[in-house]
Amino acid sequence: MHHLLTCLLLTALLAGCAGQAPRPTLYQEFGERPGIEALVEELLVRVLEDPRINAGFAEVDLVNLNDRLVEQICVEVGGPCTYTGRTMAESHASLAVTEADFNALVEDLVDAMEARGIPRRAQNRLLRRLAPMHRDIVSP
Ligand code: HEM
Repeated sequence: MHHLLTCLLLTALLAGCAGQAPRPTLYQEFGERPGIEALVEELLVRVLEDPRINAGFAEVDLVNLNDRLVEQICVEVGGPCTYTGRTMAESHASLAVTEADFNALVEDLVDAMEARGIPRRAQNRLLRRLAPMHRDIVSP
């Protein structure tokens, strides 16, 4: 009985009273909504300056793209957002996106996340969530 009490006390101390900050959520690691908005801005600047892929964005409604990307990344990192855009299959079907295009955009995203100081582990968690979209985005 004494052991049980001691154990409960110690556990309470270690968990609560020791003042350890809880591990941030993925959404927090991305800086919540303002951090995601800043990240998407960094991403779009890079994409529009990237000669490998920028031609495909010349005629695009960039305000819409910006807003849909913010929603989508917010959802993927577990934030309290709703994605209101088209599906990845619908929005990329007619674009003839290649494997190389996809890799270029992922590189630009990683550069943008680095520039925002997002921890590597958090970066990888987002990339893992975007990876399955590859099959809907890259043309067969
Ligand atoms: C993980 C990779 C990608 C994600 C998560 C993604 C996400 C999105 C989203 C959310 C939209 C907006 C859809 C809407 O307006 O309803 C979009 C549109 C678009 N994406 Fe992607 N995309 C990816 C890869 C690519 C790649 C590799 C390219 C080409 C290099 C590309 C080119 C475009 C273009 C041109 C549009 C605008 C289409 C339009 O407005 O008609 N995307 N993408």
